[in-house]
Amino acid sequence: MDKGAHVIEAENRPTAAVAAARLIPRPRDESGPGAALLARQGKRESNARTYARNFGIAPVSASGMEVTDADGRVFLDCLSGAGTLALGHNHPVVIEALRRVIDSGVPLHALDFATPEKDAFTTELLSRLPSAFADRARLHFCGPAGTDAVEAALKLTATATGRSSLLAFTGAYHGMTAGAMAVTGNTEVRARLGTTATQTTRLPFPYSYRCPFGVGGDAGSRIAATYVERFLDDPAGGILPPAAMILEAVQGEGGAVPAPDEWLRAMRRITAERGIPLILDEVQAGVGRTGAFWGFEHSGITPDVVVMSKAIGGSLPLAVIAYHQDLDVWGPGAHTGTFRGNTLAMATGTATLRFVAENQLAERAAELGARMTGVLQQMARRFPTIGDVRGRGLMLGVELVDPAGTPDACGSLPPASALAAQVRRECLSRGLIVELGGRHDAVVRLLPPLTMTDAQADTVLDRLGEALAAAQHFTGTVTSTGTGTSTGTGPA
Ligand SMILES: Cc1ncc(COP(=O)(O)O)c(C=O)c1O
Repeated sequence: MDKGAHVIEAENRPTAAVAAARLIPRPRDESGPGAALLARQGKRESNARTYARNFGIAPVSASGMEVTDADGRVFLDCLSGAGTLALGHNHPVVIEALRRVIDSGVPLHALDFATPEKDAFTTELLSRLPSAFADRARLHFCGPAGTDAVEAALKLTATATGRSSLLAFTGAYHGMTAGAMAVTGNTEVRARLGTTATQTTRLPFPYSYRCPFGVGGDAGSRIAATYVERFLDDPAGGILPPAAMILEAVQGEGGAVPAPDEWLRAMRRITAERGIPLILDEVQAGVGRTGAFWGFEHSGITPDVVVMSKAIGGSLPLAVIAYHQDLDVWGPGAHTGTFRGNTLAMATGTATLRFVAENQLAERAAELGARMTGVLQQMARRFPTIGDVRGRGLMLGVELVDPAGTPDACGSLPPASALAAQVRRECLSRGLIVELGGRHDAVVRLLPPLTMTDAQADTVLDRLGEALAAAQHFTGTVTSTGTGTSTGTGPA
């Protein structure tokens, strides 16, 4: 047993047992209030809803990592609002910030006017970005969703360069509006819409377990970088000078796939040498989740544009881009939006950014993520259905595979999405909320709050292990990719 696993075992086993006894939910009461809420939702809301369908729980209260549903069942939440809740649900500093703003009488809706709350937020945000970037950065507040911030980044770089085509990566997820969808790898939603106006050249992301070059590891990542460089320089490569390259330092919806630091540095060099702005989409990886405050900081690069949302709003909707001042060629009104001045979100965002920094939660995510990875790797030795364990900090993925399938050129086995869907169900029945992602929805993703205790981590791992054993039994160690119920394309 490695040190991390040992520490979790030794320190927390008794506490975890107590927590487990308290948390394991009973089966859903089909005539209870939760079922009624879900039934009404099913009649009133669109068929595109995802989480409500996949989990079938109706939450009524939440605190930290615990969510209680309308039937009084308690779950440990490893979804955290799709990676939004750095501090978990309803953290005291968030609630305190809300109360302070509400009691102060400041306007809750402020368009893009300067307010003291916004001033405090911009001060806090700029202080948390690396100074090499922040000292020359401008901020733009967007409509309060990650996807609008991606749109803003794409529009900004197109305006600044006078170009329109984009470079994006396989496996990427950037949102559901037209531009963001055009740079997203998953074609499931786009395919039903026909073509999008934005021209995107898709480049291979260095995904070691399913290496696009059939090589894997450092060698696969080096080839991926060389491929990009040669492709961009090939006068017969068919590619026009692009407005930007957009990427995630750790692909989230793509299945918790971290970009190797060396590869990211190569992307920075390649784009800088060719005058191509580099956009880092930190919507999911930002604010400590990967073990650094921003995902790109592991590699030491300085991007041209950083896209931020989710955790920066401290539970409330907020989206911002930060970019090099030289790109600030926009005229007034170039990217407007009625809800860019959400005073409550500025206050909860400031409180969250500060709490993460002052309590070294990025470092905590790195340490706890490493311990959990160690335990998951041990689990992989027990379960042949675990093909890969990966991630960074508390952005972890367990890729499930068919052990009876034929290995590919790298020795990787076919994805087992039906098994993954069953694991999600088994987790839920044990009081654990986990979501799926990645190719064929075969990756179990763990996105717990950065405030998760060692005991909670232990309980999460115990329940996941039990769920895996039960799911294998249930599916007879599933042998096909099947059809998962999640779209794997992001939040509803
Ligand atoms: C990396 C990344 N970019 C953009 C988005 C889109 O954000 P939103 O769902 O708030 O539009 C997401 C959402 O999951 C994301 O993970």
